[in-house]
Amino acid sequence: MSTVITNIGELATNDPDRDGLLGLVTDAAVVVEGSRIAWVGPAAEAPDADVRVDAGGRAVVPGFVDSHSHLVFAGDRSAEFEARMTGQPYTAGGIRTTVAKTRAATDEQLTSHVARLVAEMRAQGTTSLEIKSGYGLSVHDEARSLAVARQFTDETTFLGAHVVPADTTPEDYVDLVTGPMLAAAAPHARWIDVFCEDGAFDVDQARTILAAGSDIGLRGRLHANQLTYGGGVRLACELGLVAVDHCTFLSALDVESLRDSGTIATLLPGVEFSTRQPYPDARGLLDAGVRVALASDCNPGSCFTSSMALCIALAVREMRMSPAEALHAATAMGAAALDRDDVGVLAPGKAADLVLLDAPSYVHLAYRPGVPLVAGVWQHGRPVVPG
Ligand code: NIG
Ligand code: FE
Repeated sequence: MSTVITNIGELATNDPDRDGLLGLVTDAAVVVEGSRIAWVGPAAEAPDADVRVDAGGRAVVPGFVDSHSHLVFAGDRSAEFEARMTGQPYTAGGIRTTVAKTRAATDEQLTSHVARLVAEMRAQGTTSLEIKSGYGLSVHDEARSLAVARQFTDETTFLGAHVVPADTTPEDYVDLVTGPMLAAAAPHARWIDVFCEDGAFDVDQARTILAAGSDIGLRGRLHANQLTYGGGVRLACELGLVAVDHCTFLSALDVESLRDSGTIATLLPGVEFSTRQPYPDARGLLDAGVRVALASDCNPGSCFTSSMALCIALAVREMRMSPAEALHAATAMGAAALDRDDVGVLAPGKAADLVLLDAPSYVHLAYRPGVPLVAGVWQHGRPVVPG
């Protein structure tokens, strides 16, 4: 079945063969055949299709690609957030609270909780997402967290190395993560990640864990330089990882390494918003020629937002990205951070993942912060939010 979405006032394609960063087309139409885009161009030239949707002059953008989330968890940490907003600093110690709750939850409870969050994301325009484990921290609980995540996405990440659980030593835990836990997790994961930070895992441990993952075919990514300066970002660049996430505390050498390696700096401004930390220097990174993506980091501790539109608004207001850079970073660059070229771009042959905005321009994503602007979502050609 084919659908033509026509009378699109402003279409952001991210197509590098078109003009500008976003490859904008005005008075546009898109034809969808099955799960793919079949045609993009001026509405006046659009071919016929079985179904016609009139966008009413509104804007259409690619579905958001959220390349960093921790959706498999149980429990609530709003009290920790409240304490933080009244003066307590963020420490990653709260992770252990969530681990206890997650271990106590049934598979069904975890699955229905992830389903609820995925639906919440989809309603806000996210059509591709990555989900990490990391609140199980035992062989059984990491493997089942990933099995739950796999029901919702192919982009699953083993984060057994999130923190060292209370009942073990760092040495023993790294042995467990790189041995039996990795073996149990690997069938359900595409990626392996380490929280490389003071109080979590150091650079040598991260190197060991990523190497073990790579040996059995998992691709590496890293949480690095979130709370302190350190060697995590440089390790990611040295290893040629596709992305390194957070990048809040960067030295000049870190920035040079990112530029030279092409490793994408995935910035998570919802974290700085929710922990009251300084924001990463997105403007400095972009001006230095670093590739930048935006993601939500949706998790119960440092940032419990599922809204990519909020991340875009924060990136524009607080990190001095232009609205076009921010949208591109939340779509095409999110896809690049997952090493995907089939999503994040609206061009023939690509996935038909589109968002209709109740606005004349993509700029409204930052211009109207907090306003639910998503009027329709198509995921792989299927209307998942009525347009
Ligand atoms: O990406 N930094 C490590 N992990 C998460 C937070 C986890 C938590 O506080 O529960 C993050 O920010
Ligand atoms: Fe994270």
